[in-house]
Amino acid sequence: MSGALFAADRREVAPGAIHVPGWLDPTQQRMLVDACRDWARGPVPMRSAVMPGGHPMSVQTVCLGWHWQPYRYTRTAEDAGGAVVAEFPEWMAQLGREAVAAAYGDPGASAKYQPDTALINFYDAAARMGMHQDKDERASDPVVSLSIGDSCLFRFGNPDTRTKPYTDLRLDSGDLFVFGGPSRFAYHGVPKIYAGTGPAESGLASGRLNITMRVTGLKEAGSPR
Ligand code: SIN
Ligand code: FE2
Repeated sequence: MSGALFAADRREVAPGAIHVPGWLDPTQQRMLVDACRDWARGPVPMRSAVMPGGHPMSVQTVCLGWHWQPYRYTRTAEDAGGAVVAEFPEWMAQLGREAVAAAYGDPGASAKYQPDTALINFYDAAARMGMHQDKDERASDPVVSLSIGDSCLFRFGNPDTRTKPYTDLRLDSGDLFVFGGPSRFAYHGVPKIYAGTGPAESGLASGRLNITMRVTGLKEAGSPR
């Protein structure tokens, strides 16, 4: 449950990587779906980012605070109409602090968590995300991930290789996943969406919504790595 310190039913999937099932209640899920629907319309429209090789990603993405494209952050969306991204709202930062508290039960870590960007990804039934590291940030604070709608197969691995050892788990609507510490730069991916499994009460008729909050550590536009 959101707001509770150190969620009782948390599970450590890897060192510093915590899964908290059912952390968002239905009202919070619906509120997030409504907010994401607005952000998907603009100022930067939700779109499939294009990989350096020219292939569009199968997920659709809209960002807050900083605009991400493979593999950098900018304030304006040069690849999606050029507008300045919507601001990262303080209420979402507060939700991020509650998430860190639920995952780690460490009030100090929670209080100093100041996410400044969120990537909002929408997966239709066919969308996937290959194994990758979240490493375009210049900070090592945890990533907070919230899932709403259809369930997915989530593969969470290790920082050294995109292959085994990894853990396969299912992320359902309302689940929280936080990865920090020794797992902050672990490879992870979404090999499968379980179409039609999302609860109607989330407000999402189909597909899966995932929000990841991050601390970029950036003051100016991030340069390509
Ligand atoms: C991501 O790796 O950025 C998204 C993960 C997810 O959709 O659960
Ligand atoms: Fe990621």
